[in-house]
Amino acid sequence: MLGRRAADAGRARSGDGSNGNALRRLLRAVAAIGVFHEDAVDRFSLTPLGDGLRADAPESLAGWAAFVGRPHHWEAWGHLLSSVRSGENAFRSLHGVDVWTYRSEHPEERAVFDAAMVALTRRTNASLLEAYDFGGFGRLVDVGGGLGTFLSALLAAYPSLHGVLFDQPHVLDGAEELLRAAGVADRCRIVAGSFFDDVPEDADAYLLKSILHDWDDEEQRRSSAPAAVRWTSAARCSSSSASWGR
Ligand SMILES: C[S@@+](CC[C@H](N)C(=O)[O-])C[C@H]1O[C@@H](n2cnc3c(N)ncnc32)[C@H](O)[C@@H]1O
Repeated sequence: MLGRRAADAGRARSGDGSNGNALRRLLRAVAAIGVFHEDAVDRFSLTPLGDGLRADAPESLAGWAAFVGRPHHWEAWGHLLSSVRSGENAFRSLHGVDVWTYRSEHPEERAVFDAAMVALTRRTNASLLEAYDFGGFGRLVDVGGGLGTFLSALLAAYPSLHGVLFDQPHVLDGAEELLRAAGVADRCRIVAGSFFDDVPEDADAYLLKSILHDWDDEEQRRSSAPAAVRWTSAARCSSSSASWGR
């Protein structure tokens, strides 16, 4: 809607079928929280904060914004109160399956989510690399590493490190391309599977970035496979020694 130049609400509509008056009120509300700037002649432009929502912005958050607006996601948040009261997972109560099963059955939603994770993780790569010295490791498994956004940055930063990208088979489809673009594909093996069954053995470090918060304690306990026990306890070690190991 809004590019680099200022536009009034009429121009910002650009034929998308929205109501000009309603859109103007929305733009003004969003301007009030600093995403847009409204000038004296009723035109709106992006602030530095809003610029991060452009798909072509460096470290763009457009992918994340697209994800949080998906109905299957925000409808689950609408059930937060009943979830807190009942202790049941709101997403599962609403959709009948957990988020991962849902995404495996809805490839278009999975693609939106995977792109959202790429957007989010790209923004934190530099801080994570600065916060922790990975230099002592020879081979590292990124457990639930998604498309390899962090692993590719890690391998690029440590040229002698070898990596294993481990995630669900349907998620890994786009991983090769991302690793190639980062120039690290020759030092990274892509392994598909479920961390409730097994994780690759041949590594001296296991990374779980943005994983544990997805599972409650009971879900973790139900995975009785030795590998799952290992990855949860390894993650707890990471959590206590580094702030990023949630
Ligand atoms: C919140 S995302 C984090 C992705 C990545 N670590 C990052 O920070 O960008 C959680 C990841 O866990 C993966 N995942 C979920 N259940 C899994 C399972 N049973 N086995 C392997 N990976 C799984 C998802 O496919 C997803 O890529």
